Amino acid sequence: KARNPIIIANWKLNGDIDLLCKSVASFIRKYFKADVVVCPPYIYLREMLSFLQYSSVAIGSQNVSKFESGAYTGETSAQMLKEAGCKYCLIGHSERRSMFRENNQSCNIKVKSALDSELKPVLCIGENAEERDAGVTRDVLFRQLSEGLEGIEFNGDDILVAYEPVWAIGTGNAASADNAEEVHCFIRKEIKALFGRDVAEKVRILYGGSVNKTNAALLLEQKNIDGLLVGGASLDPSHFMEICQVAD
Ligand code: G3H
Repeated sequence: KARNPIIIANWKLNGDIDLLCKSVASFIRKYFKADVVVCPPYIYLREMLSFLQYSSVAIGSQNVSKFESGAYTGETSAQMLKEAGCKYCLIGHSERRSMFRENNQSCNIKVKSALDSELKPVLCIGENAEERDAGVTRDVLFRQLSEGLEGIEFNGDDILVAYEPVWAIGTGNAASADNAEEVHCFIRKEIKALFGRDVAEKVRILYGGSVNKTNAALLLEQKNIDGLLVGGASLDPSHFMEICQVAD
């Protein structure tokens, strides 16, 4: 594939020092064809990076503040994440949209802020079960993309998009490879309409939602699936390692 595959682990609000140690130990002397990224909770970022410095594995954050600095208790800015060594930054994960009032407008501000600090935003989009059943998946995705990326100069490899159907997250019920490929194809087409052909050909679009070592290979074989965003299965280091090796 012209686009190098990327596998991102999203630990969400899980893990501890023990998992951190086991996880970094599993990466020692492992070289991957894919870009591999781990997004642990903020508190573990620095420690994880110090262990990973001689590996090709990068770290990313699960969120970023839309503010740069000031009286915003509990927030962490893009610049701070950059300084902590993050390369990537998840934005608009469905859990943040549904539980923390994240919306396309706040995602848009966060994407801009991440880019200003030279972090690569991974904009997460996806329909929920009601939207899927109502047949409005494409409208929802188009709005999330066009509003989330509005006014942004997009070169193609500086922003990534993760398609995560909400009904597939943490349910064990992943989208079929055919179904995911069809949606990824639609997303790439819309990116082409919004930003042009070069950008659409370069942008990496990840699939997320109940990815595991059994379904990873078939998903990654699809023409328009350039990577995987892994939640639950990334909490088991040997399981996650098998997923990373699928891309080799
Ligand atoms: O960010 C990761 C996704 O929400 C997927 O989570 O692999 O546990 O379904 P999951």
